Amino acid sequence: MLVPLPSRLHERSGHFVLAQDTALRVMPGAEAAADLLRSTVSPSTGLPLPARSDGRITLTLDPALSGLGPEGYGVTISRQAVLLRAATPDGLRHGVQTLRQLLPPPALSATPVRGVPWELPCVEITDRPRFPWRGAMLDVARHFMPIAFLHRFVDLLALHKLNVLHLHLTDDQGWRMPVPGWPALTATGAWRPRSRLGRRTGGLWDERPHGGSYTRAELTGLVAHAAARGVTVVPEIEMPGHARAALAAYPHLGNDPGRELPIWTDWGVCDTVLGVHDEALAFCRDVLTEVMDVFPSRHVHIGGDECPATDWETGEQARRRARELGLPDAAALRGWFLRQIADFLIAHGRTPVTWDEAEEGALPPEVMTMPWRTTGHARAAVARGHRVVATPIRHTYLDYAPTDDPDALGHPGAVTLQDVIGWDPAPAAEYGADASAVLGAQAQLWTELMPTPAHVEYLAFPRLAALAEVAWRAPGAVHERGPRSFDARLVRHGARLDALGVHHRTPPA
Ligand code: ACM
Repeated sequence: MLVPLPSRLHERSGHFVLAQDTALRVMPGAEAAADLLRSTVSPSTGLPLPARSDGRITLTLDPALSGLGPEGYGVTISRQAVLLRAATPDGLRHGVQTLRQLLPPPALSATPVRGVPWELPCVEITDRPRFPWRGAMLDVARHFMPIAFLHRFVDLLALHKLNVLHLHLTDDQGWRMPVPGWPALTATGAWRPRSRLGRRTGGLWDERPHGGSYTRAELTGLVAHAAARGVTVVPEIEMPGHARAALAAYPHLGNDPGRELPIWTDWGVCDTVLGVHDEALAFCRDVLTEVMDVFPSRHVHIGGDECPATDWETGEQARRRARELGLPDAAALRGWFLRQIADFLIAHGRTPVTWDEAEEGALPPEVMTMPWRTTGHARAAVARGHRVVATPIRHTYLDYAPTDDPDALGHPGAVTLQDVIGWDPAPAAEYGADASAVLGAQAQLWTELMPTPAHVEYLAFPRLAALAEVAWRAPGAVHERGPRSFDARLVRHGARLDALGVHHRTPPA
């Protein structure tokens, strides 16, 4: 059955059979959902699914379902007809993904499949998500991922009713987005001469140059592709740390005007960070102006994590800045820096997002926080008045190995399927009345150990399906056993991933 588990599901006997003459009755406002259904189902099934006023599959906006929230929907399948209703186009899109999953798994294939009876089981479904933010972060800085893969990844998110692609576009090892007036960001900052192969302790190097960047048209195309599937692309530009690629391109943005730094080739936390002078701040505002132009997302991520103060403690200019501002020490420049940038984004109507250690009291409550270290950090951020998307390392970092096998791909210290599916992003016992400050949950795919899209898929699935489930399903709707348990549903879901050609390690039945 379905992944994620719907809020309410009644199974009945019988099937609705789709045939060459099956048509869609598309009511006003449901056109995009009809296009999505047709464009995903016709290539495999060969069914044309034309729009006709007497079509037996009805897609309709229905204000009566507004009680299900902005993403809820209802599906009724009888032997004679299919009815998909929602109060919003987003709800209809989720209903389309449910219909895709209810079809036999080969319906998800990109190429024609013969000999499969294209049937939908008779069901009554009423469904809505628990959280408004159900995301996956993909790091395209450590390893560049082709734009075609980003489109495919968005399609996979949508199939799982995930609605945010958080794109980590810049880091020490690569800058992936062009910015007018700053051509060296992608000419120089997008390329490194070599990469460490595997973990930092391994001592092996891939001596081939690695890099790449997207064009503006590719990024706007991705935003449109995602929007048509109900997915928002949330961009991240890291600052003031994790910025070595920008410093390699423009050394004057750093803390020592005479210092030239090559792009970083190692993994981990880099000591060199942006300067705290007006030119560095102006650079960040320039970059974010372009980011806001390309990405309509209300949320804009500015990083803020893992920013050593070494450069500021040793730099005369930074020490003077800290003194003039009356800061207790150079390390406090991080909060000050991020505050300047957060205020800039807020003034432009956007909501800044940072990783948890960025705020620690320095940032206004409008800033949304991603607490990545522990659940204690999440509660602390909520207590300081921030809204959060839960991203704890122990439950959402899919760059950690899925098992304790020492040969498993990923960082040691497994994040198992059980660690994800058994996790509650906002336990009532911990948050009480503050639970609504938890906007959702998100998986992290840092790509140091994922040089190709195949690696990303293999570490993402099936744990990302589990993340989608905990972000969607009602709290308390946990079926440990039986046909509705996650494990039981995962068997069929593995067949879906097979049909999609996804690299995955779904356990056998
Ligand atoms: C992080 O993993 N440094 C956010």
